[in-house]
Amino acid sequence: MSASGAACAELCIRAPAKINLGLAVLGKRPDGYHELRTIFQAVSLCDRLRLRRRPRGVSVRCPALPGLGEGNLAHRAASLFLRESGIRGGVGIDLEKRIPAGGGLGGGSSDAAAVLVGCCRLFGVRPPPERLAAWAAALGSDVPFFIAGGTAIGAGRGELLTPLAPWPGPVAVLIYAPERGIATAEVFRAFRGGGLTRREEAFTILSARWQAGHLGRFGAALFNDLERPAFSLVPELSRVKQLLRGAGAEGVSLTGSGSCIYGLFTGAEAAERARRALGAACPGKFFRVHFMPARRRWGVVKR
Ligand code: C5P
Repeated sequence: MSASGAACAELCIRAPAKINLGLAVLGKRPDGYHELRTIFQAVSLCDRLRLRRRPRGVSVRCPALPGLGEGNLAHRAASLFLRESGIRGGVGIDLEKRIPAGGGLGGGSSDAAAVLVGCCRLFGVRPPPERLAAWAAALGSDVPFFIAGGTAIGAGRGELLTPLAPWPGPVAVLIYAPERGIATAEVFRAFRGGGLTRREEAFTILSARWQAGHLGRFGAALFNDLERPAFSLVPELSRVKQLLRGAGAEGVSLTGSGSCIYGLFTGAEAAERARRALGAACPGKFFRVHFMPARRRWGVVKR
């Protein structure tokens, strides 16, 4: 692959979490995945990665998750990059985890996308966007979204993306992470379909309300078809959903396959009031965050 742009020896890159603003499951596909419609929204809870060039091989250090092996997505992303780009060299990765695992916030996928984007910068290569997207899709269904981030409609298994204009008004997000995470595959296994045409319609209504930009009306149209199986695995979630509603959220939904649930609020003060009101009643962690624009708007890396 041709080198273009300056390479560097070391760099830092942020990997934001995402929430799913609506998630319609339209059925099981012949390849075993489920056909989805969703709005991905990047949020300001971020992992941080430092990438270093080294002579060969890939290593990942993560104090929060000691003993990370070759199966880790960040590790797999670096190996895939080196193999596919034909670059002779290696990558050392220091990973500072802040996004809870098994939460439906896409932390592992975002780390993988940040490794791909960061490695391109590190080695001064610029693959065609479709090639980068194909590498990302090979790593996981949510990885392609995190290459550009921001806001996008996701279709297929989540990898077919259409960018959306950012939300026009003020909005704050309060995310609740239960102590227990859940595996995506486990939730999809417990999913029972039905009413597929109605699901597609529900998603069309939701996307139209995104364009209209009224938070109360958008929040009222939020839904996630994976709530039923996820709530059966983590019963605490239905109570927290009611509590978030009672604390003034304009909309409440599970993100992805869970186990995190979030509320949308008209501003940071309203979200902070809800966090204080719910804090004592819930054993998990709260994160108060905001929507994050696309990666090109906040810069790729800091050296
Ligand atoms: O693509 P990813 O490896 O993140 O998916 C993890 C698992 O979640 C898949 O193996 C599959 O069981 C399930 N999944 C699905 N349909 C999707 C995305 C994920 O069934 N659209």
